[in-house]
Amino acid sequence: MTSVPNDINEKSRDEEIDESGEYEIIKRKRASLLDHEYDGIREYDNPTPGWWHAIFIATVVFSVFYVAFFHISPMSWTIEEQWTRKQNVETKKLFGTMSLQPVQADIHKMQLDPKMMQVAKGMFEGNCAACHAKDGGGVNGVNLTDDNYKSVKKLEDIYTVITKGANNGAMPPWENRLSQNERVLISAYVASLRGTTPAAPRGPEGDVIEAFPVAGK
Ligand code: HEC
Repeated sequence: MTSVPNDINEKSRDEEIDESGEYEIIKRKRASLLDHEYDGIREYDNPTPGWWHAIFIATVVFSVFYVAFFHISPMSWTIEEQWTRKQNVETKKLFGTMSLQPVQADIHKMQLDPKMMQVAKGMFEGNCAACHAKDGGGVNGVNLTDDNYKSVKKLEDIYTVITKGANNGAMPPWENRLSQNERVLISAYVASLRGTTPAAPRGPEGDVIEAFPVAGK
């Protein structure tokens, strides 16, 4: 290993550098060379900067409080709880003191409110589109845009199907997942899908039923 000279340890090189005025730097560098040597490789003592240490120590200290609070303390909350709380706030903001009933008057009231129908569209896309398609044309769930229905005979039945489900859970019940206000609102949206033209409609299932009463008439 000694056959390969280390630049800095070689005397002649030091003198050379000395003449060109760089000797001091090299001397200081050599002083910071660490004692150990691995297969002829030596290293300088290059400590990480102070600001780096400070950040590192701060993260360690933070982690102690984090674990104590979020994993041990009963005062903490889970992401799920946070989500539910936020959703409740939003729902409250949306419906205010409204207490919608699954009756024609309230369903129509929602249909006549463009802002609420926009919200309902989002709810439908988030909860129902997987089976009924975004535009209600149907995937493995039935087509909600045609005149044929399996469990619905009149407007209010839409709410009942959404609440209780149908066909042994093939259409899941939403009783425990959506509030009554939300279910009435989605019913209004589903009713408004009837007569629209979806991109890839599923064939008709069930019987043709009478037209739903139209809002505002
Ligand atoms: C897991 C798939 C799935 C999801 C999610 C789903 N549905 Fe359904 N839905 C179905 C199936 C399947 C049927 C047909 C049930 C039957 O055979 O009677 C159905 C039927 C219905 C019906 C009755 C249609 C008729 O012909 O009588 C309505 C209304 C309805 N769904 C609305 C919704 C709404 C609103 C949502 C979202 C809140 C939703 N569905 C979510 C699968 C689903």
